[in-house]
Amino acid sequence: MSEQKQHIVILSGAGVSAESGIKTFRDSDGLWENHRVEDVATPGAWARDQELVLRFYNERRQQIRAAEPNEAHKALALLEERFKVTVITQNIDDLHERGGSSDVLHLHGEIFKARSSQNEDLLYELGDQDIYAGDLCEQGSQLRPHIVWFGEDVPMYPVAHEITQTADLVIVVGTSLQVQPASFLASAAPYHVARIVVDPKAEADVPAFYLRYPAGEIMPALVDYLLQQGIEDLSELDQLISQ
Ligand code: APR
Repeated sequence: MSEQKQHIVILSGAGVSAESGIKTFRDSDGLWENHRVEDVATPGAWARDQELVLRFYNERRQQIRAAEPNEAHKALALLEERFKVTVITQNIDDLHERGGSSDVLHLHGEIFKARSSQNEDLLYELGDQDIYAGDLCEQGSQLRPHIVWFGEDVPMYPVAHEITQTADLVIVVGTSLQVQPASFLASAAPYHVARIVVDPKAEADVPAFYLRYPAGEIMPALVDYLLQQGIEDLSELDQLISQ
């Protein structure tokens, strides 16, 4: 019987896609591509002005289509050569998938999916389509982006929490972990499980190995290290920085 692979859980956020040119609202003084978050990413915004919300996400989708996975996305996918890997991302882009990761859970939804505004179980792959006013689900309701807006429940959170509890190593990359409930995931793994944080501006607020570098620069070296040395002995991680 083959030995069970060790499980690495990656918690990723906006920073992992930054080097692919994708912006979030925290990049620019609380505005997201010149919009207030309340005007484009809340249930209230949807109730007030569906056309604005649809246009906003259509533009984001076009931007993401034009972006490419960076060295961090691609390196993370290589971990699958030796480990079971689950990527739990707050990102709505598909750059982990296009970078080669095979098991990606999107906590905050997926920009390339639409869903019924009345029945959240009715999901549709958008492919190269966008969403416009008058585009309806099979039950006759307007389609909306499959995105978890501020103030909405995060239905994938319990699944993500359960997965993180089975981790043998957690890598946090490109997320400030300020937004709940994703912020709770960093401590969902058992106490003895090591955490590696990759973020140039990380605060040292949880016990972890901190690699304060852009993900695209340091991730290939980190992944090489883990593939070669395994996850038991992280004591030489510091040497990555001087390479
Ligand atoms: N490599 C690694 N980390 C980076 C890089 C980079 N090249 N560039 C920026 N960062 C870090 C920043 O220092 C910051 O700590 O990425 C982190 C991004 O944090 P946030 O902007 O708070 O993004 P995120 O944690 O993904 O936000 C969570 O909030 O914007 C909403 O719903 C949206 O899913 C998003 C959620």
